[in-house]
Order: sequence, then structure tokens, then C-alpha cells
Amino acid sequence: MDRPLKILAIDDEATMLKIIRRSLEPENCLVETFSNASDAITRLRSGDPVDIVITDLMLPDIDGFKVIEEAHKVDRNIFVIVITAYSSVESAVKAIRSGAYDFIPKPFDPEHIAIVVRRAAETRSLKLENIDLKKQLEALPGSGEIIGASLAMRQVFSMIEKVKNTDGTVLIMGESGVGKELVARAIHYGSTRSQRPFIAINCGALPDELLESELFGYEKGAFTGAVSRKTGLFEAAAGGSLFLDEVSSISPMMQVKLLRVLQERCFMRLGGQETVTVDIRVIAATNEYLKEAVDKGTFRKDLYYRLNVIPIEIPPLRERQEDIPLLVRHFVRKFSLKMAKDISRINKDAEELLKRYKWEGNVRELENIIERAITMTDDDVISADDLPDEIKIASPSLLESATAHPTNITLFDLERLHIASVLKSVNGNKSKAARLLGIDYSTLRRKLNSIDIPLE
Ligand SMILES: Nc1ncnc2c1ncn2[C@@H]1O[C@H](COP(=O)(O)OP(=O)(O)OP(=O)(O)O)[C@@H](O)[C@H]1O
Ligand SMILES: [Mg+2]
Repeated sequence: MDRPLKILAIDDEATMLKIIRRSLEPENCLVETFSNASDAITRLRSGDPVDIVITDLMLPDIDGFKVIEEAHKVDRNIFVIVITAYSSVESAVKAIRSGAYDFIPKPFDPEHIAIVVRRAAETRSLKLENIDLKKQLEALPGSGEIIGASLAMRQVFSMIEKVKNTDGTVLIMGESGVGKELVARAIHYGSTRSQRPFIAINCGALPDELLESELFGYEKGAFTGAVSRKTGLFEAAAGGSLFLDEVSSISPMMQVKLLRVLQERCFMRLGGQETVTVDIRVIAATNEYLKEAVDKGTFRKDLYYRLNVIPIEIPPLRERQEDIPLLVRHFVRKFSLKMAKDISRINKDAEELLKRYKWEGNVRELENIIERAITMTDDDVISADDLPDEIKIASPSLLESATAHPTNITLFDLERLHIASVLKSVNGNKSKAARLLGIDYSTLRRKLNSIDIPLE
């Protein structure tokens, strides 16, 4: 450690303090000594930070347990080491329970104290590093928030702002992985209901009876096995928001029941007589076009209109390519912080490949791929090599669209297609290809390494 450790030592025996000082000063420690607890506590509260406190438990004025408590009131990260009488295992245990980091039985070997302090310092700096990392994660722009600059996402943001403090039911539509739950959470946590629960339930994952008892709860004896009353999610979310995910998969029977609660804002627990009134905001999500289900007759029209008071549609990622670099940057920072790696960016080739990919799994798929790349890479920049094959392999439609709309192709794709066709014409002979392309062999090798050239 570069900075000296600041240590307060408290003991009423002057010889003890001398031993502590002598054994710690050569270890890059600044030791301040106190013969009573009151003076040490005043010093702790002075605002000048302290790393470690070493205190005797038996002090003339206040006991050592109080010192532990006072030190932690000032700063929870001060490590306290207590000195105990050799025979008193009990007080050592009590001290640890009160939050001391370690204890040293008296009489002690001066070396022992240096070892315990060194270990405390190491553990403490790890703890602080962790806290720091967590803070950085929380402070990340958009952490837990929604990243996006495309017109479509800006519209989503403006909808969230408009609806968050109303009680209108929101229907969020979009393919799997586009961020529906993220938007639902943003509405809840941005609203005046944020201090109350946000409860999510996946309606598609539960059979009818279970979904019903989960949502509405039941009275004791409502059915075999109902041994006591259970509150449902409508009640649990009181004052907050209930997120009904995959609402399109609700059965006709449950659709009727849901419609009733949405209309009347009250319901009865299963097997109950009492009407329970609910104050909740309902946010529903679906990855199917509910309107189509209505037209097909599988989803009730009246329920559809009840849910679709405020529709928010999140387009698939492939339709908002300009969000990709922003999301990539966000996930690169997120995972490199999380994995304590120093990866700051992704190179142009890799970014181009990501921009062009079809992203059927949307943002979730992109997030997983970046997490994987950060795990795999040993470099400080992510390159095409760190991406999975399905992304590196050029889309078969690329050549087709290049021929059909030559003006729409990017320089990156044009280069890669040209290299591919020259390579093909010389049966993959790289020296010949390099000569034909007018570049040296090593340049061609580099290009081939950074982009996967299709030979077909
Ligand atoms: N715009 C965004 N900015 C940052 N992270 C995002 C964004 N969109 C989605 N994500 C992340 O992608 C993952 C999937 O998002 P989410 O669970 O909200 O999707 P979903 O639409 O509910 O998917 P599904 O239909 O499969 O349940 C989450 O980890 C989420 O944090
Ligand atoms: Mg979801």
C-alpha cells in the first residue's frame, strides 16, 4: 500500500502502546496512541479518517465494546481489532459479534500484531474496492435505464414520461428481448408509486388454476390444500404496479376474470366472500400482436381495449440500427466493470458486423454476445475474433443486395466482398490474391483475421 495506514491504538498500559507503535511503525503505519476511550472517540469523530482501531477491551472509562460501536458509527469500514485477556474466549467472541474484525490475546508477540494488522488492511482494501466498483456500476449512465437514440426509442422515452404519473393501463408490445420489462420498470420507478412494490408475473408460464390463485389469492379451505389464507399479487402490489407479462397467453376463462378486476377495480379471493378493492397500476406486455388475436377470436375484444389504454410499441433492434453502437458501448462498460477487466471499446470491424446482424433475440441477444466477448477476450479492445461465428459469417443476402442495390453497400462490405471474390478467383491462394489486390501479404492476412471472408 502506498499511503500509510492510519491506526488508533487504545490501551491504559503505556508499555502496550509502546509495543504496538514499535511493531507497526516499520510497516508503513501512522500510529496515534490513547490511554482512554473518551479521547480516542473524540479523535474518531474529528473527521480525519482512520483505517484501523486497535483497542483493549478493559479500559478505565468506557469499555472496548463501546469503542467498536462508536468507530462504526463514524465509518462502517473502520476495522477494529480488540486486545483481550488471554483467558477470556468469551469476550473475544462477544467482540467479534459486535463487529470487531479480529482479536489479539494478551500477552502478545509484537510480530503477531503486525500480521493481524496486515491481514486486516488487505481485507479492508478489498472491501473498499468492492464498494467502489458497485458505486461505479450504479453510476453508469443508463444503468438499469434504457439506452437508445433512435427516433423509435425517443418516442418510447417520451411515452414513459407522459404516462408515468397517470394510472392508465399500459400495454407494451414488442418482440422477445426488446426491453418490455425494462420499460415497465422505468414507468413504475419513475412514478409516484416507486416506493411501493413492482410485481411481475409471467401469465404464459402458469396453468389457469395457478395463475388465478397467484393473482387473486385464496381463503383458508378454498380448495384441498388451501390450509391458510394466501394473499394474491393484486393485493401484494397494493399502491404499486402489477406487470402482467405475456398477457396474450391468458385463457378465455382468465380473460373474463381479469376484465372484471380491470373494470371494477375490486375482486374476491378464491373461496372468499369479502370484496377486496385494489389500488394498482396495471402494465401488460405481449410479444404477439394482440389485435391479430382479437381478430382471430382468441383474445377478448373488451379486454383488449381495457389493456390497450396506453399502447407503447418497441420496435425490434434490427429496425433501429443506430441504437446498436450505443448499446454495445453500454454493455462493454457494464461487463468489463463487472468482470474487473479494462476493456474500453470495440473495434470498427466488430462494430460493423454487429450493426449488420439480424438480432432475432434483440437487445437480450446483443447483451449476451457482449458478455461472452468480454469473458473471452484477453485484449483491451473487442475485435471480430471475439464474436461468435453466426455473427462473423456474412449474411447470405449481402452479396445479393450488393448486386441489386450497388449504391446501398458500405465501404466495409464492399471491401470484404471484393477480397472474397478475388480470393475465390485464385482458389484461396493468399499471395496471389494480395498481388491482385495491390496490397502486401501481411495486410491481407490482417484483413482476413479481422473479418470473416465468405468464400462462397
Ligand atoms: N434499450 C435498452 N437499454 C439497455 N438494456 C436493454 C435495453 N433493452 C433491453 N435491454 C436489456 O435486454 C435484456 C432483455 O430486456 P427485457 O427483459 O426487458 O426484454 P423483454 O422485451 O421483456 O423480453 P421477453 O419478451 O423475452 O420477456 C435485459 O437484460 C435488459 O436490461
Ligand atoms: Mg420480459
